[in-house]
Amino acid sequence: MSDVMERSKTIELRVLRYRPVSDAEPVFETFQVPYSDDMSVLQALQSIKDSQDGTLSFRWSCRMAVCGSCGMMINGDPKLACETFLRDLAPNPVVIEPLRNFPIERDLVVTVGDFVKKIESIYPYIMPKAPRSVEEGAWLQTPAQMAAYESFADCINCMLCYAACPQFGANPHFIGPGAMALLQRYNSDSRYRTAHTAGPGVGRGRGVVVHGGRRLFRCVSETGRSGQRGQSEQDQQRGRLLLAPAAPEGRAMSERRPYLRAQDPYWWARKPYLGYTLRELTGVAVALYGAILLAGLICLCRGKDSFDAYRRILSGDVSLLVHLLLLVAVVWHVVTWFQTMPKTMPKLIVGGRQVPQQRMTVIGVALAALCSAALLAAVVMVGRWS
Ligand code: FES
Repeated sequence: MSDVMERSKTIELRVLRYRPVSDAEPVFETFQVPYSDDMSVLQALQSIKDSQDGTLSFRWSCRMAVCGSCGMMINGDPKLACETFLRDLAPNPVVIEPLRNFPIERDLVVTVGDFVKKIESIYPYIMPKAPRSVEEGAWLQTPAQMAAYESFADCINCMLCYAACPQFGANPHFIGPGAMALLQRYNSDSRYRTAHTAGPGVGRGRGVVVHGGRRLFRCVSETGRSGQRGQSEQDQQRGRLLLAPAAPEGRAMSERRPYLRAQDPYWWARKPYLGYTLRELTGVAVALYGAILLAGLICLCRGKDSFDAYRRILSGDVSLLVHLLLLVAVVWHVVTWFQTMPKTMPKLIVGGRQVPQQRMTVIGVALAALCSAALLAAVVMVGRWS
């Protein structure tokens, strides 16, 4: 579509390049790209490859946010390039980098072998107790049973969550959020919850089957196994199809030198983690509030003099200022907690319909405010009677 629309505007793309044969480390390269409003970042990269630099390397396949191949960092956030549009980023320059936490093979292409191994280390398919014949018909589930795992089944294993996960960045042995989402998806599925026959690496806990081991794809033909062939084997096969350009002296063109960028030690203070960091820090304010109330309770138990001293301390200017700051932090903690909660829990079905996330947030915050107001009213009333 964009080919027929006029590309009347120009946007600057800063692309991190890494050519393993000639570059010691990745460097940014700037391109000016004519664009139209319906053009995605993926199309912009293709435009560079077509008309400016044919050596620019990146992955893509479906171009419709289904396969997950085109994942990359766009302005610091892990995103799918095919569903990120230049109109939403213009007029500012767009910074494009390979997915964080993965070794760079070349330009925007990262090594996926470790990721595939992690997915292979679980059982991402249904294992019923007994085989089910076609004659028995479809295995029906209620909306509530489906809601228990549906949000986890939406995962397309695009690796974006791995690029966003500082824990994976710090510890590459961590199985990672994508594999864990798959574990949750299958462990929550009613069709085999109590039916799975345990095998090596499979455990059970409180009635929930826990996937593990390395038996993924055992029912898939060898050629159908993604990641079955190593990268070097694939390179060799491609090598037979292409005429190799001359390599710098002393270095083979087939040489692989994946480049792993060091993790930023201040990742927690940068976008997109800063909001999360602050939210977690406000948990300290909640704990402080609890400690102050506990101290009041202890003083109350000790007698009138002790409690009067406690009240005197609380009514001081410093105390009032501290309480004001604590109140702001706690309110922010409560609101963001109820904003996060609906995103992390299974879909809530009431009367056969899913409760919208926003409504759950509003109800949660309203209930918290109501409880706080009721508690305050009770305290004021008790204070007047005593
Ligand atoms: S190309 Fe398949 S998700 Fe973007």
